[in-house]
Amino acid sequence: MAIALAFLPVVVLVATWIGFFNVGASTGHWKITEWFLHFAMRSAVRTYALAVEVPDRLPHDGVQPAAGHFARGCAICHGAPGEPRSPAALAMLPQPPDLAQAVGEWEDAELFRLVKHGVRFTGMPAWPTQARDDEVWAMVAFLRELPTMDAARYRDLAYGSGRPPPSRPVRFEDALAECSRCHGSDGLGRSPSTPVIAGQNEAYLLASLRAYAEARRPSGMMQLPTVAIDPAQMQALAKHFAALPPRNDSVSTADAKVSRRGEEIARRGLPLQKVPACLGCHGGPDRNPAYPRLEGQSAAYMTTQLRLFRNGQRGGTRFSHLMESAAKRLSDADIASVAAFFSSLRPPVATHGP
Ligand code: HEC
Ligand code: HEC
Ligand code: HEC
Repeated sequence: MAIALAFLPVVVLVATWIGFFNVGASTGHWKITEWFLHFAMRSAVRTYALAVEVPDRLPHDGVQPAAGHFARGCAICHGAPGEPRSPAALAMLPQPPDLAQAVGEWEDAELFRLVKHGVRFTGMPAWPTQARDDEVWAMVAFLRELPTMDAARYRDLAYGSGRPPPSRPVRFEDALAECSRCHGSDGLGRSPSTPVIAGQNEAYLLASLRAYAEARRPSGMMQLPTVAIDPAQMQALAKHFAALPPRNDSVSTADAKVSRRGEEIARRGLPLQKVPACLGCHGGPDRNPAYPRLEGQSAAYMTTQLRLFRNGQRGGTRFSHLMESAAKRLSDADIASVAAFFSSLRPPVATHGP
């Protein structure tokens, strides 16, 4: 018995070497293998999810860009409302489940774990960047809406009103349609978590697009479109959005006291905390055109960016280290104030562009 056991590893190795184990996907797993793999997957997700810190509420602000990302990064395997899974996906082993049905079985922390880290040996990929969690939570918020989402709402969230552009846009019009799915054709952003890019400095837009494509600015949602488009279109897209009129709607309803404190920080900084005056770099007509303008930018978007800068997770252009040290000592309350202040401003229409 002992001798037989001692030889077991050798027997398994030889069986493997002569190709005894069928790795084909066509015949499915043995029942016991299937049971074991599923059991192992569910147990591991449950256990690792214990370490996940769940936010107080899911970021429903981010459902639109998450739907836009889902259309490119997930629907190819899982299908979507009004888009059944393709026969190619159905022939995978294991099959990617229809998520409208599957998500009900998982807690928020478990969905987060699945979407951020993927599942080994199944084809379920990890999120394109491991550097930040807010985008993954936006995806969890989207997944929670899936079971009650009809095809028309999904189509609107994921593609907007236009015709869905090809997934590898080559022509300028198609690349523009790809961006408009999330940014809107007016460049004002289709959700509060999407930045206003209309009227933003062209040099900053172009440098940011390159930073996303090269993963120097981590974002799963922006990496997919910047890698998909023809690189020759980047300059034209930056020029196009920079020339659109910036936001000009009614001024935000932020609390006046909060906004005033934001203005104070913007003009004078916080000398005791060594926070520099924001307008030193972000104000005035002679600012470096590679620095972004903040007037009229969405407060929710700026809040996320400032937290990412503070945590050293934002990345960006070759100037991003300047901003990282400016944000290092901002408290959550400081961040809320400056975001409220800048979002309530309206840029002077005549001087947009560098
Ligand atoms: C290349 C195909 C593929 C892509 C792309 C893909 N998945 Fe999956 N996904 C799978 C497979 C296969 C499974 C089943 C894993 C298993 O059963 O162990 C799965 C499982 C899941 C699960 C767990 C559901 C369950 O009950 O098993 C979730 C949630 C999920 N995927 C979400 C996503 C999201 C969100 C995206 C896009 C960011 C995505 N997937 C992209 C193939 C894919
Ligand atoms: C799936 C939705 C989606 C698509 C498609 C998309 N974007 Fe974005 N975009 C976002 C989100 C979300 C952010 C914020 C990302 C972050 O936190 O860094 C963003 C950020 C940006 C920024 C940075 C702006 C700033 O103020 O720093 C630029 C520039 C940009 N997008 C341009 C584009 C262009 C050009 C395209 C088309 C090639 C495009 N986007 C396609 C969702 C999208
Ligand atoms: C020393 C110059 C400098 C100072 C001071 C500065 N910033 Fe910045 N800021 C930058 C640069 C450069 C970027 C662009 C970083 C990148 O993407 O490479 C930036 C980016 C930002 C962004 C992201 C904008 C976007 O569209 O993504 C926000 C928000 C921001 N700054 C807010 C502030 C606030 C608030 C302060 C004051 C507390 C401040 N900045 C002070 C240089 C500065």
